[in-house]
Amino acid sequence: MAEINVVCICGSLRKASYNRMVMNALPGLAPAGMSIKEAPPFADFPLYNMDLQDASGVPPSVQKLADAIRAADGVIFNTPEYNFSIPGGLKNAIDWISRVPNQPLAGKPVAIQSATNGPLGGGRMQYDLRRAMIFLDALTFGKPEIFIGNASTRIDAKTGEITDKQTVEFIRQQLAAFAKFIERYGGKQ
Ligand SMILES: Cc1cc2nc3c(=O)[nH]c(=O)nc-3n(C[C@H](O)[C@H](O)[C@H](O)COP(=O)(O)O)c2cc1C
Repeated sequence: MAEINVVCICGSLRKASYNRMVMNALPGLAPAGMSIKEAPPFADFPLYNMDLQDASGVPPSVQKLADAIRAADGVIFNTPEYNFSIPGGLKNAIDWISRVPNQPLAGKPVAIQSATNGPLGGGRMQYDLRRAMIFLDALTFGKPEIFIGNASTRIDAKTGEITDKQTVEFIRQQLAAFAKFIERYGGKQ
């Protein structure tokens, strides 16, 4: 297969985000033939309101992210868990993307990685994100799963390096398996 292009969406907006650190490490852990880059940001998306969409259409920043998802062979969500679920900003972004005509997550291979300072590493959020992806007809990748619990003990907050070797190995394995998943089931719209 030709080069596999994956875009990542970081669910945390804070500068020193552990999830962003994990996202930044991915290009160095990807198998040969898989390129990984960050998707356009959602930080300036307005709160979803159908009246707004009816009056002004899809905002340009939403369209930009939707186009990047459509053009990619796969999407990786790198996100924390907020209050046992999907962070509000990310959920708002998904809600906007879901209302773009010919919504781009349909048929799209999607993988999930989460890092939290809690011990479960975002497991509860992942159930909710998987449910949203089911409604959007995304092809959500199964195993291996990435839950980075107690993130501050596994990631060096100063350098951004993932210091826990097992975590690095799990991510490498997930990316290799995700590449195979994309080759088998993927396909751009
Ligand atoms: C609003 C809010 C809710 C949170 N809820 C959870 C939670 O449900 N489970 C959990 O493990 N950590 C929770 N945390 C702690 C996060 O795991 C921690 O702040 C983590 O570093 C956030 O990810 P980031 O470093 O990528 O920003 C919460 C943090 C915030 C700010």
